[in-house]
Amino acid sequence: MEASRLNRLGIDFPFMVAPMVGLTHVAFRAVVRHFTPKSVNPLLFTEMLSTRRLPFERIDRVDELKIMAGERYFIPQILGNEETFIQRSIQKLMPLEPWGLDINMGCPARQHLQHNWGVRLLGDRDYAARVVEMTKKHSTVPVSVKMRCGQDVADPQFLDDFTAALESAGADWLTIHARLQSQKHKGDADWNLVGDLRQKRSIPIVMNGDIQTAQDALSIYQSGQADGIMIGRAATARPWILWQIAHALGHRESPEAFPGMSPPQTPEEEGRFFLMAMVKFIDSLDQYFDNDDKNMRRLRFYVINAHKWFLFGHSYYSKCMKARTLTEARRVTEEMIDTVNFPMTSRINFF
Ligand SMILES: Cc1cc2nc3c(=O)[nH]c(=O)nc-3n(C[C@H](O)[C@H](O)[C@H](O)COP(=O)(O)O)c2cc1C
Repeated sequence: MEASRLNRLGIDFPFMVAPMVGLTHVAFRAVVRHFTPKSVNPLLFTEMLSTRRLPFERIDRVDELKIMAGERYFIPQILGNEETFIQRSIQKLMPLEPWGLDINMGCPARQHLQHNWGVRLLGDRDYAARVVEMTKKHSTVPVSVKMRCGQDVADPQFLDDFTAALESAGADWLTIHARLQSQKHKGDADWNLVGDLRQKRSIPIVMNGDIQTAQDALSIYQSGQADGIMIGRAATARPWILWQIAHALGHRESPEAFPGMSPPQTPEEEGRFFLMAMVKFIDSLDQYFDNDDKNMRRLRFYVINAHKWFLFGHSYYSKCMKARTLTEARRVTEEMIDTVNFPMTSRINFF
């Protein structure tokens, strides 16, 4: 197996967690860190941040930009296409000392399409390259792009041309969500379409989309289809996935909270870990954010996404939807840990 080209950028663990609005705030990143060995340093992305808003915000008051004490391996993801706003957003972000910056070229939300942000940039290769140039010009840290593999049809030539333009514009690496714009977040990802790209580009290519288990991540990585792997929704259900990957690669350190233990493997072990992760998540929400209503919304949105991997997930989902406070949600979660068999399925279909 060839060494990952991400090494050259100083990334020694090429498995990372995707940016997800409403999910990848600091409370979730704290859960991922809780279940990851201390010396393993995965890159964790923030939720996307509008460059039209950032310049006017007080950075210490932006919930999406709260970070853990000493957090260094995080990447703010920016959304935008105008140099002035990009420059001023970067100036705002730099005091947080992020590891890098990422440009969103994959978001299909209608309100962003009308501004030619997000996935719309796939329709204008030259302008997309300009956005990379402007970001590089003002950034002192590595700049990556997260993009989809196409708009309506899978076209290897389009992907080749588009990524070549971003590479020439100075992108340090590219993450490809192997679904088309028209698929939104549903259906299968086309890993083969992206796999061919790695031979054509000299910058690292990170694969994203439908990677749900440590085995999925390792088989793509070890087959040489990508220099790195980015996990999205499955990391909400399996926030210990990076520990499982590290363990499978021979790393024997355990996370500080689980001394001497191996990562969960069986459906029952994973189910129990999920409930423990939920307790940690609830405590993290309480630790990092003040607003109780927003915290309940964050909790519910998290459970909406994560419960699908569990055979009895719906009963837990109903309990969380009924809980009115974090304390109540914590109590129902703790009650389940010791009384309920809550097995996890390894993969689900994204309909
Ligand atoms: C709720 C939600 C929010 C998302 N927000 C973002 C985002 O802010 N920026 C981005 O580039 N992608 C975003 N995505 C896409 C994910 O980063 C990822 O590309 C997608 O979920 C595919 O990976 P997965 O199949 O492993 O989940 C979001 C996806 C979901 C489900």
